[in-house]
Amino acid sequence: MLGNWMSLEDADRAVAERFPGCMEGRTMYVIPFSMGPLDSPYSKLGVQLTDSAYVVCSMRIMTRIGTKVLEKLDSPDDSGNGVGYFVKALHSVGHPADGPVQHPHWPCDPDRTIILHKPEMDEIISYGSGYGGNSLLGKKCFALRIGSSIAHREGWLAEHMLILGVTNPKGRKRYVVAAFPSACGKTNMAMMRPTLPGYKVECVGDDIVWMRFDRNGQLRAINPEFGFFGVAPGTSRTTNPVAMDTVFENTIFTNVAQTSDGGVYWEGMDKLEPGVTITDWQGNPWTPGSSTPAAHPNSRFCTPAEQCPIIDADWQSPDGVPIDAILFGGRRPSGVPLVYEAFDWKHGVYVGASMKSEATAAAEHKGKEIMHDPFAMRPFFGYNFGHYLQHWLSMETPNVKVPKVFHVNWFRKDDQGKYMWPGYGENCRVLDWILRRIDNEPLTAQPTPIGYVPTRESFDVHGLNIDFDGLFSVPIDFWTEEAKEVANFLNEQVDEDLPKDVQDQIDSLFRRLSSP
Ligand code: GTP
Ligand code: MN
Ligand code: MN
Repeated sequence: MLGNWMSLEDADRAVAERFPGCMEGRTMYVIPFSMGPLDSPYSKLGVQLTDSAYVVCSMRIMTRIGTKVLEKLDSPDDSGNGVGYFVKALHSVGHPADGPVQHPHWPCDPDRTIILHKPEMDEIISYGSGYGGNSLLGKKCFALRIGSSIAHREGWLAEHMLILGVTNPKGRKRYVVAAFPSACGKTNMAMMRPTLPGYKVECVGDDIVWMRFDRNGQLRAINPEFGFFGVAPGTSRTTNPVAMDTVFENTIFTNVAQTSDGGVYWEGMDKLEPGVTITDWQGNPWTPGSSTPAAHPNSRFCTPAEQCPIIDADWQSPDGVPIDAILFGGRRPSGVPLVYEAFDWKHGVYVGASMKSEATAAAEHKGKEIMHDPFAMRPFFGYNFGHYLQHWLSMETPNVKVPKVFHVNWFRKDDQGKYMWPGYGENCRVLDWILRRIDNEPLTAQPTPIGYVPTRESFDVHGLNIDFDGLFSVPIDFWTEEAKEVANFLNEQVDEDLPKDVQDQIDSLFRRLSSP
């Protein structure tokens, strides 16, 4: 369920079996890169070797690369890294220039693909895959897996979260971070166009956050990336006009369909011009009547963050932006209210640990399943999950102001299987309530066994036709089952490393549920 572990000896053997000669006839590129702004004490440097030009071009969009990074490697700074410190990242598509063709459109070695991380050495070794997450090694491998392990050592957090700034009609601006599993709406939310008058949302990042408490006890966050690597299908002028305006130029599209007039196409995009024909992502002719999708469901755009029309003025601030709330969320068709607030930090850590989401399950399963994805980090933990939980708990000290923690769910469905909440730009109504909670406005919430939910008076549904009680109900039977299932998961997966504080949270939840 969580990451796989192997011994260093086995890892070295796996490398020795794959790498000798694997780049033969190809060009090897050396990419010095920085995760985070070059002048930020939060940032970390890396050097990636790769034999893929696609990786070089994508890394240039997703990270800060080049001479400035080499110069920084040569100069001492106050980040505690010492001169010359960098994460070592090695990548090969695993396909010599004149080797036997494994795949008609893409050099790779799918049967022997392996992605290794050595957290003790801050090293990444990736073989056989050109997939973004496996080959742009600054992203999931460095910024999340090795990053979370460095963060554990150094006392900060590397998380699978978006960062946005939200300004209310009074002109008060706050920043929040939000962790949702893949394909659950981070990029959409980070680029939200709020429907409530007077609200403004600005984007700092859409996928990864590095954050720490500063000397004054304020949590501050940077986006270690330089671009967006977003899911293309479903992105349109209606769902995410900001993303559509961002990807107009300097953008690399992967596994999308092509139009005969030189454009790109994917499912859910706006109407086609008459007379335009389409070639699907595999190079075959495609029409709207075809039985297969035009674009791969996980096709992506890779685009510079600075092209985003609502990029935040402080998105590259070396000191990061101050964070006032942490949101967790996932796709929960039943039982889970639109938003609830954790009672305190420890409960918030439990809420993150208990995250689940509906996913189109792996090939061996039928249909959709609700899967565990704690902190939206299940594929990205760089070390023991129990120690990770302890690390989150240890953030709360007398010297810091911990932010409020919330859980959101845009995906609750009614008896007919229809979404109960319009989502997208309307999600600013949830932000509006969250801001009221941060400001400690009176009478905004009522306690339930799982946390605080909004009162009718405090949650703005003006102009919407929704079933308020259905959307916010907390069914006790559902939650009792849920609590048991989560307790089993944590006890099975984390076992003796489960922190006592998390076990206490499980026990208190059962107590609240049995006497609501
Ligand atoms: P990764 O980039 O893989 O980490 O995922 P992500 O969290 O950025 O996901 P993304 O924003 O690409 O999620 C897109 C999916 O979520 C699409 O299917 C959207 O239609 C859906 N989605 C996003 N926001 C909402 C919402 O508010 N309501 C509903 N119903 N669907 C939404
Ligand atoms: Mn992601
Ligand atoms: Mn995304």
